[in-house]
Amino acid sequence: MVRTLAKHIGKYRTASILSVLSVLGEAGMDILIPFVMAKLIDQGISRGDLGAVYRYGLMMLLCAVMALVFGIAGGRFASRASSGFASNLRDAMYVSIQNYSFSNIDKYSTAGLITRLTTDVTNVQNAYQMMIRMMMRSPAMLILALCMTISISPRLSLIFLGAAAFLGCALTFILKHATSAFSRVFVKYDDLNSSVQENVTGIRVVKSFVREDYEIGRFNAAIEEIYRLFVRAESFIVCNFPVMMLTVYTCIIAISWNGAHEIVAGRLTTGELTSLFSYTMNILISLMFLSMAFVMISMSLASGRRIAEVLNEIPSVRSPKDPVMEVKDGSVDFCNVSFSYGKRRVPVDWDNPEAVKRYHEKQKLKEAVRQGKMTVQEAEKLDPDIRGTGWEKKYVLRDIDLHIRSGETIGILGGTGSSKTSLVSLIPRLYDTSEGEVKVGGRNVREYDLTVLRDAVGMVLQKNTLFSGTIYENLRWGNENATDEECRGACVLACADDFISSFPAGYNTRIEQGGTNVSGGQRQRLCIARALLKKPKILILDDSTSAVDTATDASIRKAFREKIPDTTKFIISQRISGVKDADRILVLDEGTISGFGTHEELLKTNEIYRSVAEAQAESGGDFDHAPGKEA
Ligand code: GTP
Ligand code: MG
Repeated sequence: MVRTLAKHIGKYRTASILSVLSVLGEAGMDILIPFVMAKLIDQGISRGDLGAVYRYGLMMLLCAVMALVFGIAGGRFASRASSGFASNLRDAMYVSIQNYSFSNIDKYSTAGLITRLTTDVTNVQNAYQMMIRMMMRSPAMLILALCMTISISPRLSLIFLGAAAFLGCALTFILKHATSAFSRVFVKYDDLNSSVQENVTGIRVVKSFVREDYEIGRFNAAIEEIYRLFVRAESFIVCNFPVMMLTVYTCIIAISWNGAHEIVAGRLTTGELTSLFSYTMNILISLMFLSMAFVMISMSLASGRRIAEVLNEIPSVRSPKDPVMEVKDGSVDFCNVSFSYGKRRVPVDWDNPEAVKRYHEKQKLKEAVRQGKMTVQEAEKLDPDIRGTGWEKKYVLRDIDLHIRSGETIGILGGTGSSKTSLVSLIPRLYDTSEGEVKVGGRNVREYDLTVLRDAVGMVLQKNTLFSGTIYENLRWGNENATDEECRGACVLACADDFISSFPAGYNTRIEQGGTNVSGGQRQRLCIARALLKKPKILILDDSTSAVDTATDASIRKAFREKIPDTTKFIISQRISGVKDADRILVLDEGTISGFGTHEELLKTNEIYRSVAEAQAESGGDFDHAPGKEA
């Protein structure tokens, strides 16, 4: 972990080194001052030598000014180094996240990634600053001050050893308890962020279901837990200061008592005793700062680990070594494809014995299922909480064998959860198949350069998103070099030109974040236009006209047929009317192919298709409202 993080110090290495040097200089000056003061007392004041008083006084002043200069420089270098380090880390994490495949993203929650980018990086930043200042200054001060006391009076320095031993034991006890409490806080931060994120993004739903009180309750529970853990952690940390003060005063009393005896015996001068007091403070304060720095650093170890995880995550979908750089045509082949989503990682709070116990119980269940001692259903009955977490390896697509010619229009029909989205996600390699292979233009999708492949496959996702910016800017996500004319052409094809032109600012209308100021149907058409601008060889519309009226839907399909005949089109729909004029229609049932053929063929041969067609002819409803078909 340390190596992963240290790589990102980058150009701030110089500032870090300068900070360490300045801090060491400051510590040296701080140690020198009591030494000069002892000389001033013994050679100047005690002997009444005014010349020596001036000389040593001037030296002390010089040391103080130097200490100040070193201190300021150290602080500035340290803050430059630590902020630069943090910004490098954020940058690297951001780049790393951008390269993640869908299954990488599924592994972390969005809220978890945000905590890592914000709170965790801030913790590491603070710890780094602590490391290049306190962790350098305190040990240096400690060693130098100890050397000085031993050189002044070896007998009296034994007192420090006793004090250091006591302080060491007390601080170890405090730290041990505090760090375990702090590491639990971070897991709770994820909960807090996920509650905020879910609520803020879904605020309209929360309001329409009048769930504000429930959401407030959930949020309060999350902050209550953080409050409780923080108070627990801090209640150990606050003991630091009283323990420290107890040790300091005990040391001063012990040194005063023994020091007085030493002076009477003529083994110590008054000046030396005064400087011993200063060194006492130096030594003990260094110990305290050191302990604080340890707390901060151990707290940030958990954060550092979480950051390193994000940086070291290997994108599961990557371009191969010698990638194919051209997609020949829009043909698509699924050769015996089976697919399962990876497990969603549920974070385990390792400091919580209850959570660890549950984790092991879950592992036992999984093992039992793997060995065939019980079925998935039996395991889920024993532990209902694991249901839906993807803990079992479940194929959502099985034995798919399809061969589609370039330029064909394929309709895909199937109930909710029948894996329509999963099937088409394999074409632009949003996910990799678990078994079998998907070919585009006659080559396995894994052989292509990812950008080349994805540029050739335009996909309008079911959960589509627009970004804040003008309509033009949004459209140019599809193709940044598209001219205004091309943008308009794509919008005409997607039946979006009419409504855009009716806006006062036309194509320069600003879209709010998440596209909230356009209707669902308008957003869908903008997303289709955006995908068309890529001039893809394969176009996938995943239920992309569900919010568009039937007449407009029909004219979009007509435009596609006439204007982009060479593009292979996959049209997922819940409506028979949306797919019936396709060249061939695929009927999916629970991840397997139930039928594949033209509308007429399927009406004759496919039971599911026929019942849906009949039901929709009567009610105009969609797939899941067909009789005998449960949603
Ligand atoms: P609709 O869009 O509702 O019509 O369904 P669909 O036919 O597109 O089904 P989809 O391919 O989205 O889902 C098929 C199965 O995969 C379902 O059982 C889902 O629970 C599961 N699934 C879908 N997306 C994910 C995912 O990101 N992770 C995991 N683990 N499972 C998923
Ligand atoms: Mg879907």
